[in-house]
Amino acid sequence: MTQETQARDRVLIFDTTLRDGEQSPGATMTHSEKLEIAQLLDEMGVDIIEAGFPIASEGDFAAVSEIAKRADDAVIAGLARANLKDIDRCWEAVKHARRPRIHTFIGTSPLHRAIPNLSREEMAERIHDCVTHARNLCDDVQWSSMDATRTEWDFLKQTVEIAIRAGATTINIPDTVGYTAPVESADLIRRLIAEVEGAEDVVFATHCHNDLGMATANSLAAVAGGARQIECTINGLGERAGNTALEEVVMALKVRGDIMPWTTGVDSRKLMHISHRVATVSGFPVQFNKAIVGKNAFAHESGIHQDGMLKNAATFEIMRPEDVGLKATSLVMGKHSGRAALRAKLKDLGYEVADNQLGDLFVRFKALADRKKEVYDEDIEALVRDQGAADEAIRLKFLRVICGTEAPQSADMTLTIDGVDHQVTTQGDGPVDAAFNAVKALVPHKARLQLYQVHAVTEGTDAQATVTVRMAEEGRIVTGQSADTDTVVASAKAYISALNRLMVKRRTTAEGSDIKTVSYKDAG
Ligand code: KIV
Ligand code: ZN
Repeated sequence: MTQETQARDRVLIFDTTLRDGEQSPGATMTHSEKLEIAQLLDEMGVDIIEAGFPIASEGDFAAVSEIAKRADDAVIAGLARANLKDIDRCWEAVKHARRPRIHTFIGTSPLHRAIPNLSREEMAERIHDCVTHARNLCDDVQWSSMDATRTEWDFLKQTVEIAIRAGATTINIPDTVGYTAPVESADLIRRLIAEVEGAEDVVFATHCHNDLGMATANSLAAVAGGARQIECTINGLGERAGNTALEEVVMALKVRGDIMPWTTGVDSRKLMHISHRVATVSGFPVQFNKAIVGKNAFAHESGIHQDGMLKNAATFEIMRPEDVGLKATSLVMGKHSGRAALRAKLKDLGYEVADNQLGDLFVRFKALADRKKEVYDEDIEALVRDQGAADEAIRLKFLRVICGTEAPQSADMTLTIDGVDHQVTTQGDGPVDAAFNAVKALVPHKARLQLYQVHAVTEGTDAQATVTVRMAEEGRIVTGQSADTDTVVASAKAYISALNRLMVKRRTTAEGSDIKTVSYKDAG
């Protein structure tokens, strides 16, 4: 949708999960995971997908190009710093899209101007040259004055006017450090629209970070001020406290249309599924009480609430669970259920699986059904999450731990590494520590454990545990996740999954790519 055809009450949703979200340390996604998320975003009705930062690495370039080739409806944007080399590289990647966009930016606040040491005049010239160059390549160009909310008013106005004159079609006003507040956010956009020459020819966008917990409120306030594009991520993924959460702005506009008369093109019934997928592939679990997509968002524990809900759901519910794609937790199948039933259930949960994937899932489903009395939808989803294992270099073949009140605890482990079995017995301070020591003995490495987290998938003592492990090695941060009815097995598999990702990351950063040196913050 262009600014000529966009209805005044229509707000464009610009998703940056694959760019700003993926920049979050440890949230790295694989190539195939990025393609999957892009497809889900496109199917859900997101207007613009920011697929990555093509100059950052060969991997980013390949992902943006492939997403551009595959996209059906969505505009595919790539990020480029305000320099000709970045912009050319970005265009090379996005040009395959039916509807490509170049998104270029520079930090305009005094603090950001000081980094490349540019005067206002030099920066103004740079903006003019870069937007002109981008516009010569692509009809759809987005300009961002990074840290706009801390940029002097007169200079912000000037940068925006230069970008518009040079051909920008969307003007983004980022609140890069989550500093603004709703009243200010609305006023800034309102003032820009009123005073900037050429404002009527462009779409104004809002891009908020959540450092003070106001990203959603600030984004909606910006829309009240006249912005017609919200930049956001699934689950609010993003550096530090994250970005505006897509599911929150979409549902707020849907539920409170009475006071916020603006619509989006997003099919809200697909929110829960994509939220689960992003949590899985990024390794960032959704907090239980997260608005819209948290496990407890529709749970009513207290007696008073339950009583009210039974009499009339509207007493304590402002939206229906099914509006966000939440189905009542259902008992799925037992050990007698067949392959066709599993395929049907997966489809119902939003997963299309190939025959070979189904075969593998079916074997693991049977094994789970043997161990667990009741198999729920969440268990099936946990099985899907664990699927990476088949093509990974390190795999857990055997684990037995001895634990209890008498120390030392020990682990006997066999790992298959590049097709060859290796065995070790180690001790540790508790069963998880012993198992981790075993992995480390078989795969020596210097990565530091940054996070170890356990969540129960469902209720009951036979519930599966989902374990998340985050590790860091020389600036590379990776996350692994796994689920099992045995918490120690899930822990070992999550650790191994993180190591597998680390090995991939070591390769991509050793390929001579500039991933470690190019950051979107080096705006020069
Ligand atoms: O937060 C920010 O300013 C950004 C820009 C690159 C748009 O992400
Ligand atoms: Zn950002």
